[in-house]
Amino acid sequence: MNELSVIILAAGKSTRMKSSRSKLLHEVGGKKVITRVCRAVASLEPACVVAVCSFQADEVFHEVKHVLSNAVMIDQGEPRGTGHAVLKGLEGISESTENILVLAGDIPLIKPETLSELIKKHSESSSEVSFITMMCAEPFGYGRVIRRDSHPVHIMEQADLTTEFEDIKECNSGIYIFRRTFLQKYLESLNTNNAKGEFYLTDLIKKAAEISVVQTTSAPESEVTGVNTRVHFAYAEAQLLKEIVNAHMVNGVGFLFPDEVYIHESVTIGQDSFIEKDVVLKGNTQIGNNVYIGQGAIIVDSVIGDNVEIKPYSVIEASSVGIKSVVGPFARLRPGNDVGENCRIGNFVEMKKVTMERGVKAGHLSYLGDASIGEDSNIGAGTITCNYDGKNKFRTILGKRVFVGSDSQLIAPVTVGDDTYIGTGTTVMEDAEGSSLVINPKTQKVVNPWKPPYLRT
Ligand code: UD1
Ligand code: CA
Repeated sequence: MNELSVIILAAGKSTRMKSSRSKLLHEVGGKKVITRVCRAVASLEPACVVAVCSFQADEVFHEVKHVLSNAVMIDQGEPRGTGHAVLKGLEGISESTENILVLAGDIPLIKPETLSELIKKHSESSSEVSFITMMCAEPFGYGRVIRRDSHPVHIMEQADLTTEFEDIKECNSGIYIFRRTFLQKYLESLNTNNAKGEFYLTDLIKKAAEISVVQTTSAPESEVTGVNTRVHFAYAEAQLLKEIVNAHMVNGVGFLFPDEVYIHESVTIGQDSFIEKDVVLKGNTQIGNNVYIGQGAIIVDSVIGDNVEIKPYSVIEASSVGIKSVVGPFARLRPGNDVGENCRIGNFVEMKKVTMERGVKAGHLSYLGDASIGEDSNIGAGTITCNYDGKNKFRTILGKRVFVGSDSQLIAPVTVGDDTYIGTGTTVMEDAEGSSLVINPKTQKVVNPWKPPYLRT
């Protein structure tokens, strides 16, 4: 097919969402609805894209432009229905265009293949319009497809539905491809004589059917569902998630309760990994092979190596964890950590911008911030890197095989050489050379006999 143009309808007021933000700016699977639609459109490499905007036009178009850099915006002004939106959109379409793909901006799960199939079918026909239908168990809210002799002759909107057609389950998905000349000729003839007092784009089906057979392709409701209400958003989110989790299972990832996790489609997970209940994996996250992720762990934008064990309720953001390491339970890795192989990060350890070489252990109750820790070092319970003077942050650098005794503080900037031993309860205030012992001398006083005041007579 020669040059394809696209009109994205993105001007609606999102009344049914009951939100101050356009529904197109709400997210499904961590991406804005409009962004998802634009990505599917981008894969078709259209010559020309027009986004018809109105409500929060600048914000919506900003997202469109981000994905479709050649898109132009047309402001619909007061939205007066999908027919009116396309009429306005036509102003941005070049006369050399033969066919125009028109789609609602509120169909977040639409797949490129489904659009291509529609385009192909249309190009092989002489139809004025072809569109995608779906079978809906609960068709309420959608335009119903009325057929005669098996060909579509009309779309009847929910608001105008007569009892005679109530049982129709085949619905309009809101995705069409029109011949430009047809749109140009008939759009102006639409009227608002309907229950909503809007110009319905769907009224053009009747017109087109009078000229030639209207073609349809079909898609599952789960894919072409339109999001108008928060209930629809929850449905779309669940559909997407089901697809994502199923794909991981097919690829050899185990789930204790596949319905009780949340995973973005951008996440990759290696074979034989196992995911427990309530795990959340988001953003640009890569999980290696044979990784165990315990209940309630949250991992965002992170790289987890093979054979790692993330124990329950650990939170990991923008960090990497090397192979065979064990993290948690209840560990918190804030952004910027690079944990090497075979490390052990235990409960209630908070880390930020820490580089750990292989074999480091920080088993319990520590704050490690802005630090480099050499291989096989041991960080005792209660160790704190004092990295902040109230204004600036400083680094703590520990060499290899450093032993930091429990309840020590490292006042940064500070450097400790290889094989140094820091005694329990030490405040390290100055740099220490390698192979040394660092302690703050303290003496122990024993008072005996002694009684607490309340026992004294
Ligand atoms: C529309 C279809 C319905 C179909 C359903 C599929 C019409 C009349 N009805 O209904 O047959 O089953 O989609 O999801 O087309 N918009 C504008 N300007 C306007 C009005 C709407 O740009 O003046 C945009 C909206 O932002 C939205 C899209 O067009 O992205 C569809 O509008 P919406 O109000 O959601 O239509 P539905 O009632 O869902
Ligand atoms: Ca809709």
